[in-house]
Amino acid sequence: MILSDNNVFLLKNDNLAYMFRVTEHGNLEHLHFGAPVELCDADAFSVKYGTGWGSNSGPEGEEFPMYLPLEWSGLGTGDYRESPTEFAGEDPAGFKFSHYKTYDEIVPIQCSLPQAKGKAETLEIVLAYVGGMTLHLFYTLFDTAVTRRAVLYNNTDQPVTVTKLMSYMLDMQGEFEITTFNGSWIAEMRPYRAEVGLSGIVNESTTGFSSAMHNPGFILNQPGANETSGEVIGFNLIYSGNHYARIQRSHEGLTRIVQGISPVDFEWELKPAEFFETPEGVMVYSNEGFGGMSRAMHRFINEHIIPVTWQHKDRPILYNDWEGCMFDFNESKLLSLAKKAKKLGCELFVLDDGWFGERNSDKAGLGDYNVNKKKLPHGLSGLQKKLSDVGLAFGLWFEPEGVNPDSDLYRAHPDWALHANSGVTVLGRNELLLDLSKQEVRDYIVENVSRCIDEGKVSYVKWDMNRHSTALGAIAHKCVLGLYEVLDRIFGERPEVLLESCSSGGNRFDLGMLCFSPQIWSSDDTDAIERYHIQYNLSYLYPLSTMGAHVSAAPHSQTLRDTPLSTRGNISFFGLLGYEFDLDDLSSVETEEIMNQIEFYKEHRHVFQFGEFRRLRAPEGMSIQVSDGKTTIVGLFHELVHAAPGYERIFPEALMPGKIYSVESRKQLLNASKFGGLLKFVLPVKVKPDGIVVRTAGKKYRMWDATQACSASGAALMSGLSLNARFMGTGYDPQMRMQGDFSSNIYLIKEES
Ligand code: DGJ
Repeated sequence: MILSDNNVFLLKNDNLAYMFRVTEHGNLEHLHFGAPVELCDADAFSVKYGTGWGSNSGPEGEEFPMYLPLEWSGLGTGDYRESPTEFAGEDPAGFKFSHYKTYDEIVPIQCSLPQAKGKAETLEIVLAYVGGMTLHLFYTLFDTAVTRRAVLYNNTDQPVTVTKLMSYMLDMQGEFEITTFNGSWIAEMRPYRAEVGLSGIVNESTTGFSSAMHNPGFILNQPGANETSGEVIGFNLIYSGNHYARIQRSHEGLTRIVQGISPVDFEWELKPAEFFETPEGVMVYSNEGFGGMSRAMHRFINEHIIPVTWQHKDRPILYNDWEGCMFDFNESKLLSLAKKAKKLGCELFVLDDGWFGERNSDKAGLGDYNVNKKKLPHGLSGLQKKLSDVGLAFGLWFEPEGVNPDSDLYRAHPDWALHANSGVTVLGRNELLLDLSKQEVRDYIVENVSRCIDEGKVSYVKWDMNRHSTALGAIAHKCVLGLYEVLDRIFGERPEVLLESCSSGGNRFDLGMLCFSPQIWSSDDTDAIERYHIQYNLSYLYPLSTMGAHVSAAPHSQTLRDTPLSTRGNISFFGLLGYEFDLDDLSSVETEEIMNQIEFYKEHRHVFQFGEFRRLRAPEGMSIQVSDGKTTIVGLFHELVHAAPGYERIFPEALMPGKIYSVESRKQLLNASKFGGLLKFVLPVKVKPDGIVVRTAGKKYRMWDATQACSASGAALMSGLSLNARFMGTGYDPQMRMQGDFSSNIYLIKEES
């Protein structure tokens, strides 16, 4: 509910409260963002700054803005902290409260920016700027989050050039630590943790997109908070372009947070009567530590960001031909793969890059949509019919925002591409980006992608984008708006088509894309162990239902790591399972193992994709859990094993202490050839470690690993379930887990009736 009394505003529900007040001089004083409180608590939160700190400045006879925790600020009024607003060539002046309005719903954004949807209430605060402009701050209260955005109206008779306009600003009392997520191609989402100090921290992308370098989401926690307790606040932005956040503590102990479009090179001319809308910022609060914050964020995304048609809807298990074929395929190769994928249990066949124009490498063809008849003589519809006969739905890859200079499109319209201001041709993966601020470019993409989807009865689209932009500032923002318009025109009319967005993996993993694409290809790094970390770190801010996670070949093409197939499957289970390698290379035992994996995943798909997620205590390995209340699934993962390992336990959470549960570990197969010369101790014949017997055994036979089954109370399980012993070279026991490097287990915990 939204309450107001005596110039105090309170947005509150069972999970959180956000409170501020209008001071006697028209400033907005931030009071509280955290646990639910009452309107009468305003005075308890309000700062008592007395006479200030000496070197004060501010409008005569008024309070000194520098020392107030504010909801908005401006240059030139004596607040020397980070300003959320800047105008070129304007005498800076302050924003003062004018009036407010409440709505029992979301107030729609007018431009093509996406926004959170669903049940919510909105508070609109209107601030007046001395020069005659008005700034409208929208606060929307959802069940698990508060969102904020700003809209600037030019009510003057002169154009105004906006050089910075953040989506939100707030000053919170107290000290915080921050976590940001940074990286690069195939190294996404590496957490960086620091204390928020007096110099502040900037989390920014200027690549034209949200970027793998600095994900727009970040987390603030009170010192001492951990996975299960303490106050933690998650922030994010519903935007896919250049973003900026600065978090800085002041000497007086206020932490200022601003987030919005990056101001780098940003200039937006607002003509009289025009307005500019910022993207929406998202904030969630939890006093149940990082885990509680993540679960609140997951709920918010699953219920208010994901397109309605796909909310809580099971996602198909797909096969993607990219890592198996790259550009080298034809219809008969694809059909051979499809038949094998079907046998494994896959539901969708995704044809990745290389199906159009002269696209035989990444050097040519991008921008063209004519089917390459040498590879697909019967076109998209011919392939789709054959896939449908096999029993698979058809998914297709596109990279509509890019163009190769060696393409028919570029030869016809070189001016449709974005060129660097320097005049130097700046290529990324041999391509340029199309200028999506141009209507004719947007129309070209909408017409061609729509035509291919309809022709091929495509039920899934992988929308890729493989380079950084050369555009900065206003043009970069216009291109992002253009992209949103294009996505809305194509998929708004085809809501049943499942869209998976991708940008060389996770180079555009953000809430803006998730408003259109329910899932995102998490990373081009498909090495299972690396992937575990990427998915684990994504889980701080994004639910498992958004993470494309495929099993790929071993040894892996990027790390040469030879991860057991069981672990490759177990990691992909905690995401959207798919397979991506040449299935023609599969041995019969691998086929059987994958069939088992898919059968298991299908049985528990909804829990894996939409269950409540937890990162668990795991003294030696890494452990995560999903649960729908009735079924709880715990994954336990190891990297390098040690000799003479000690006892090991798992620590499931959120079980009912007094209830009895059955526990069963998932049956897993072991590759016999891994045991080399050790086989001679269990086989009746003498074998050479690298001889034909061991090699053939690896292809034809699998041994079952030990399994564990028991019944126990929730209380006992939560205090630690003692696991079967691990192999340590002192002999073989059928109850022993054969744990080599990169091993893992899955435990299924079910409420007994
Ligand atoms: C980059 C993507 O991340 C890959 O999965 C694949 O689709 C290639 N592009 C195709 O060019």
